[in-house]
Amino acid sequence: MNTLSINNLSLTYKNGFQAIKDLSLEIGNGMFGLLGPNGAGKSSLMKTIVGLQKPSSGNIIFNGVDISKDPNFIKQNLGFLPQDFGVYPKVSAYDLLNHIAVLKGIKEHSERKNQILNLLEKVNLLDFRNKEVHTFSGGMKQRFGVAQALLGNPKIIIVDEPTAGLDPEERNRFNSLLNDISKDVIVILSTHLVEDVRNLCSEMAIMHKGQLLRKGKPNELIAELQNRIWSKPIRKDEWESCQSNYQIISQQLIERELYITTFSEKQPEDFTPVSPLLEHVYFHTLSQKP
Ligand SMILES: Nc1ncnc2c1ncn2[C@@H]1O[C@H](COP(=O)(O)OP(=O)(O)OP(=O)(O)O)[C@@H](O)[C@H]1O
Ligand SMILES: [Mg+2]
Repeated sequence: MNTLSINNLSLTYKNGFQAIKDLSLEIGNGMFGLLGPNGAGKSSLMKTIVGLQKPSSGNIIFNGVDISKDPNFIKQNLGFLPQDFGVYPKVSAYDLLNHIAVLKGIKEHSERKNQILNLLEKVNLLDFRNKEVHTFSGGMKQRFGVAQALLGNPKIIIVDEPTAGLDPEERNRFNSLLNDISKDVIVILSTHLVEDVRNLCSEMAIMHKGQLLRKGKPNELIAELQNRIWSKPIRKDEWESCQSNYQIISQQLIERELYITTFSEKQPEDFTPVSPLLEHVYFHTLSQKP
């Protein structure tokens, strides 16, 4: 079992902006989902875990070792798929993986070759090994990103919004790939797709403005909202009065009709009960933000 404990972590950028505020989390094997609106601090947290930036205070302990003091320890055990990979050099997929494998310290040529060919097969890119990565489609680039993250058999894999911009088929293929690799390792996934967290993750957290607002198992967080979520269709001119009368957690167009969803301990008049979803957990949590 691998364990990552993040203890009272804070991060202030050079310009004085505090992107992570006293955040603590315990993460074990399996897939962990990180949700939060744009600017919540998800990428900042991930880049701090992988050692690209140093925390201002607090620490991160991976399998008993303080990685802010010994960043090499996590680098040897880590795979990272960043939100923005930047520009790919003009070399083939195979050569780029070979280069990354050398950087990761896989010294034996035959060992590198074995790992690279196995990984290319796993991510369904073996036939494209001699093509340059910058010519790949978005989905192929993301699958290549997984292959590079898996080089060296890491114990912790961090993927930052990996399915943004993928078509539904590529997204499914990518998610099942993540699911396959998450059995014996820690996978931390940040995404805006609440549904993906619901389907893939055994544990999750919601961040906002650098703070941790909620954490737990998706099922349990959803169960807490049982008999507390209600919905009704409204006319456009009722919107303002509804906003002042109810704690609205979301509004949605269903077949061109506007529905509002509210959180309430008791059934409000004219509202019908709704089975809670992880999306309701997300919006309800954000509506309660400090
Ligand atoms: N290098 C930096 N210097 C100063 N501020 C930064 C820097 N990087 C990020 N920030 C700020 O920190 C906050 C958190 O950014 P971050 O990229 O971690 O959010 P995020 O949750 O990953 O958002 P998104 O969902 O859009 O990817 C933002 O307000 C951002 O402007
Ligand atoms: Mg981000």
